[in-house]
Amino acid sequence: MACMHFTNAVSFRPEKISGAGVQNYQKPTKFLPRKKSVSVPCSGSSPELPPSQPEIELEFIAPKPANDGSYPVEKATAISGEKLLRSIMSDNKIELYATYGKLMNCGGGGSCGTCIVEIIDGKDLLNERTNTELKYLKKKPESWRLACQTIVGNKENSGKVVVQRIPQWKK
Ligand code: FES
Repeated sequence: MACMHFTNAVSFRPEKISGAGVQNYQKPTKFLPRKKSVSVPCSGSSPELPPSQPEIELEFIAPKPANDGSYPVEKATAISGEKLLRSIMSDNKIELYATYGKLMNCGGGGSCGTCIVEIIDGKDLLNERTNTELKYLKKKPESWRLACQTIVGNKENSGKVVVQRIPQWKK
């Protein structure tokens, strides 16, 4: 990194002021010499900016096809290891719950088992199933997760996770 070093005092004293029109002339300020050198970074990234954090891309596939027969896909991005899948969906206004869950979900407390999603791709970017999931998803496919128990990323990894919304409704 290139740096500039200042070791000498700087004086801003005007050279000479002459003429009758100068009214606001003040005594020059004295700058004492500094013994310590000062280093000023001149290139590279600013120390105030945080280092870039790995991100996870997410795609959410709708459970039912649109009129043209295609399955609508919603997208979101999250900092790796920072949020639960439920929070990411909520932040991006992506529907998580089926009918019963809309009315009766526990708000992410891990006590209702209604926040079900299916991980189509990228399961290695998520945490392992928790004990809560083992309890609620005992007889369900291994690809099913509870969104309120699923941490997206581990702060170091990055990549893409594809999520099937409301897999119970899948057609
Ligand atoms: S929201 Fe209740 S278990 Fe996930």
